Order: sequence, then structure tokens, then C-alpha cells
Amino acid sequence: MRTTIEPYRIKVVEPIPFTTRARREWVLAEAGYNLFRVPAREVTIDLLTDSGFSAMSARQWAALMQGDEAYAGAESFYRFEEVVRRVTGLPHVLPTHQGRAAERLLFECCVRPGDVVPGNMHFDTTRANLERLGALALDLPVREALQPALERPFKGNVDLERLERLFATESPGRVRLLILTLTSNGVGGQPVSLANVRAARELCDLYGARLFIDAARFAENAWLLSERERGLVGRPPAEIARAIFDLCDGCLMSAKKDALVNIGGFLAVRDAELGESLRRAMVVTEGFPTYGGLAGRDLEALAVGLEEGLDPAYLAERTGQVRALGEALHAARVPIVRPVGGHAVYLDSRACAPHLAALELPGQSLCCELYLHAGVRACEIGQLMKGAPDREGHEAPVELDLVRLAVPRRVYTSRHLQYVAEAVEEIVAGAAERLRPMVIVDQPAALRHFGVSLRPTPAPVPA
Ligand code: F0G
Repeated sequence: MRTTIEPYRIKVVEPIPFTTRARREWVLAEAGYNLFRVPAREVTIDLLTDSGFSAMSARQWAALMQGDEAYAGAESFYRFEEVVRRVTGLPHVLPTHQGRAAERLLFECCVRPGDVVPGNMHFDTTRANLERLGALALDLPVREALQPALERPFKGNVDLERLERLFATESPGRVRLLILTLTSNGVGGQPVSLANVRAARELCDLYGARLFIDAARFAENAWLLSERERGLVGRPPAEIARAIFDLCDGCLMSAKKDALVNIGGFLAVRDAELGESLRRAMVVTEGFPTYGGLAGRDLEALAVGLEEGLDPAYLAERTGQVRALGEALHAARVPIVRPVGGHAVYLDSRACAPHLAALELPGQSLCCELYLHAGVRACEIGQLMKGAPDREGHEAPVELDLVRLAVPRRVYTSRHLQYVAEAVEEIVAGAAERLRPMVIVDQPAALRHFGVSLRPTPAPVPA
């Protein structure tokens, strides 16, 4: 059979909003052309993020009723701990309310001001949590990751040569933590190979650094390796994931992605002493170590979701759905990041809008038009998110200027995504007329994409 089908049927449905272009024009202007300020009720297909927006299974909903809400030592914690230990092999497990809470907690315990913390590409909250402690967050992606059209299997890898040079040249003790993000969200949801993690581990051993995995999308990473990496083809994703966890000192996870829940996260570590200092630290801000800011029922749903997220039938369909969206766009000559990654299709903004300069924010212009044209919400991951003016107000172009169409898990059907593909195709085909330069009216100093206000420049008057 040529047709692959969703490995589930739908039991509960939720209507999606339909609006007119005139209404969307008003909504977007009110929101200062910032899609984070658009109310969800005004969005038809929401591809802003794949985070916390999954549909839970019947088993997860049923598990909610098992939630033990005891303050200390709840049954739900032990069930959750057992699953995390089984999946990761890491003995010390601490629940957190989401990924960034795990980041803050870990860095507080093992990063010092002046440290350099390298990674394949830090997520923006990871970077912000390192910088607030006075550490330098250093991205060392492989160079091929910066060429969107280049087809390479492991564009999520860390650049081992630059990593070794960093270890060798930095003063001893300043680089004591390496973070590998699986998949690499910043470069297109691209996988990190097992061979790359293994080589990074060897360098960490040589120079006395800890290796942590940002496991937000570890299951999708394992699935992509089962398709692409020599020696792993056809292996079960749980086995591949475990081989990666076996190489690390610990992991941080935003469970809002591959663990298929709407809220939750955790931190898991190998070292008993570190585990104990983390448990002591978390009581002050996150909660007692057996609930970590979550309800018992959240831990139940997370435990079930973590296992469901590793189901090969689910992962095949999940990554297949994202890939089909990417292939439809590629066939229509829309420039995207190649090959298609795990959780999203990324448009190459500058190639989609070659008539715009980098500082005219082609990605944001594309996001705004996608919303106006079809009610689809996407996320700019480029000049607006990553760029910043210097002290004199000048801004340099960022290396990668992308728009992310993140696909939430088990939420939209392939027909919804066909509609999205059609909208993007129409916009890119008429880019010169449709995509106007965007101007920043007001911007906050940090994480500017959340709070920025913009306006489009008016269309030129026809001669
Ligand atoms: N690490 C990665 C790789 C992420 O993508 C995210 C969140 C986090 C950590 C932080 O986790 O949101 O649970 O606190 N990414 C979302 C996104 C927000 O849209 O990519 P969190």
C-alpha cells in the first residue's frame, strides 16, 4: 500500500476559527504586527509552536484520574520516576514545571560566572538562563547547518573541531558543561547523530566536562537516526535514544514536546551528589522534589506520554506528516531547509523574499502575510528573534533567517497541512507584490520577538 494512515482515530473534536481577511488585517494591526500578541481565537491553523499543544491520548486522559496529589511521596511521582529511569537510564529524576525551569535549576548548581557553555545550538531560553548567570552561551553548529538548501543527514551535529579547539584554548575549568540539543531546533529540527554524541563524549572526558542532553525532541531525533545513520537503520527508537542517554551525565527535558503533554518537564542526572544539590535547590523555587511545580495528574500524563512518544508507528506517521508538508513546498519550488527535520518545516526567508534586505525582516513579513492570507500562524526564527541593535543602534544580519511552521503532535490532519502548503505557495509565488518591508516601531531589550511592535511599509504607488 502507498497510503500511510494515522495510527489513531479521533474521539473528541474542537472547532477551529474562520475569519475574513478584513478582520485579520484589523487584528494584526491591533497586535502591532506581532503574532505572539494575536489571540488564538483569531487563528485558523496555529503553527506557532509544537510545544504544549499536543493532543493527549485516551490513555493519558484516563491516567489523569490516577493523579495522587499528596504533597510528598505521591504515587504519581514514583510512576513517573520509573518511566524516566527506564527511558533514560538516569537514576536521579526531578520533575519541573517545564523545560526552562530545569535549565535554571541545573545552571544554578553547576555553572559559574565567566564559564563558557558550548552547544550545537542553544534554545533561546537556554541561552538566556546561561547569560543571566554571567556565563557565555556559545553555539558551535556544523557549518553545513548554515546552508538551508544543502542536503546533509546530520545538520544538528556539534562542530567537533571547533569544540576541541575551544577546550584546548580556554583556561582550564572554564568549559565544564556541554549541552547537545536533540533535535536542533535552531537549525531546522535537524538530528544529531549517535556518532557525534559519542565523539563529543570523548572530548568531554578528555577535558573534564559534563555532557548534558536537551531532550525536548529526543524521540524524533532517535527516529530520524533509525532512518539515516549507518548501523542504526531500522533499530527501535527507544533503543537508539537509550544509546544516546548512556553517553550523557544528565538530561533536561521540556516534556511539552516529545512527551506529548500540555505542561511539564524534568531534569535527570547520573551523579548522586549533583542530584542531591539539585533536590535541595528546587524546594526553594519549584516545589518539593516529588512534584516540582506539577500536579500529580500532570506527572501521570507525562509518564504515559513519554512512552507513547517512542512508539515507532506514531513516530513514523508524525515525522512523515511533517515531511509531506516540506516535500509539497519543495515540489512547488518554495525554498525550505533541507532535508525536512522532525517537528517543523522551516522556510528560508531571504530566498522566499529575495527583493527584501535582511534588515527589512523578510521572515516577519512572510509570517504576517501568511496570517493575512490564510489565518495561519507561524513563527519567525531569524532577524527579528535573533538580531539586536548594538549601542549605536546598528544591527548586523543574522546567519540564518527562517520561518518555522511547527506542527503540533496529533492535532492537525494532513488536509489542514495541505491548506497551509497552498497558502505558502501562493504567497511565495507572488512575493514581490505581497511581501512588504517591515519596520520596528518599539522593541524590548531582551527576547524582543515577544514584545516588539512593528509596521509594514506602505506598498509603492503604481506608476
Ligand atoms: N529546549 C528546547 C530545544 C526547546 O525547543 C524549548 C522550547 C525549551 C528547551 C524550553 O522548554 O518551553 O518547556 O520551557 N521550545 C518551544 C518552541 C517554546 O516553540 O520551540 P519550555
